[in-house]
Amino acid sequence: MVMALASRFSDSQTPMSEADFILWQRLIEEKTGLWIPAHRKSFLLTQISSRVRAKGLDSYRSYYERLLGYMMDRAEWATLIDLLTVHETRFFRDNNAMDLVGEFTKKHIEQLCSRANDARSEVTRDILSKRRSSCVMQYWSVGCATGEEVYSLAMLLEDLTENLDKNETLYFGVRGTDISFPSLTDAREGKYSASKVRHIPDSLKNKYLISSENDNFQISDRIKERVCFVQENLGEMDTIPFQTFDVIYCQNVLIYFKPERKKLILDQLVDRLNRDGLLVLAPGEATNWQHAEMSRYPHSQCLAFIKNSGQSDILRRNYGQK
Ligand SMILES: C[S@@+](CC[C@H](N)C(=O)[O-])C[C@H]1O[C@@H](n2cnc3c(N)ncnc32)[C@H](O)[C@@H]1O
Repeated sequence: MVMALASRFSDSQTPMSEADFILWQRLIEEKTGLWIPAHRKSFLLTQISSRVRAKGLDSYRSYYERLLGYMMDRAEWATLIDLLTVHETRFFRDNNAMDLVGEFTKKHIEQLCSRANDARSEVTRDILSKRRSSCVMQYWSVGCATGEEVYSLAMLLEDLTENLDKNETLYFGVRGTDISFPSLTDAREGKYSASKVRHIPDSLKNKYLISSENDNFQISDRIKERVCFVQENLGEMDTIPFQTFDVIYCQNVLIYFKPERKKLILDQLVDRLNRDGLLVLAPGEATNWQHAEMSRYPHSQCLAFIKNSGQSDILRRNYGQK
């Protein structure tokens, strides 16, 4: 059916008809979840035309067929998706949200410690006070682009662990995921220009960045060891291996999805959030979204939600409580 429709595409030199635009819109949404609104039609046309030329093809039709063909061209899909997605990001892009993650993390560590102190028996207190040295928390940066958000979180948390009471220790990992392979390659390299790192507070920059050649800065191994980068498509959440997190940080990604798809993705993120976990979105990104298991985090400048607890997963995991 799609192949039959594809034969209606016009030559790449001619403007794209409304009907053809709708077909491309649908194909891209089906494949990636991304919705290209009507006002971005000329942007879409420019990107597709550049790929038609790069591949030495003569029409949108042959390019469309190539993308849909029997031996679906995965490499070409990856290139096109990279062209169609916006990778704008920066270190500490949303300071309020970063502070919120810091506060949330500290609160959880304190909670663990007070549990240990509240324990009734000497024996339990002793066991718990030993365990409190190993609070483990997992963070997920969704749509992390070239890695600045992931490294910002890792620097913030590493700094926090340095300033903790000597009895409190946080073991954490930050997972960054994105649909774009080239962005993830840059993220893994962890090398940034002086103009990019200017948003990092000096105190963190001095500790966690190493200046390298040509006025560039390299993220230190200490921070890199805390992070990992994985290619994942939010439009195909069912194919992403199941793992749960204590904090999911998802900013400036959902704006590219239609409302119903956005809701679906948010609901799927809730499934991957531990109880008492924190979901951070960008202000205004999903103001009408509600979920039975989530409560709005009271904050005037951040859009964040807490997953309602029964028994906190963080406590349960760290203390083995049922
Ligand atoms: C504007 S950037 C936001 C980067 C960062 N979160 C921030 O706020 O600075 C959006 C990122 O989402 C990624 N993205 C778009 N659609 C995606 C999808 N279906 N699955 C995973 N990542 C996607 C893009 O590749 C891009 O790197």
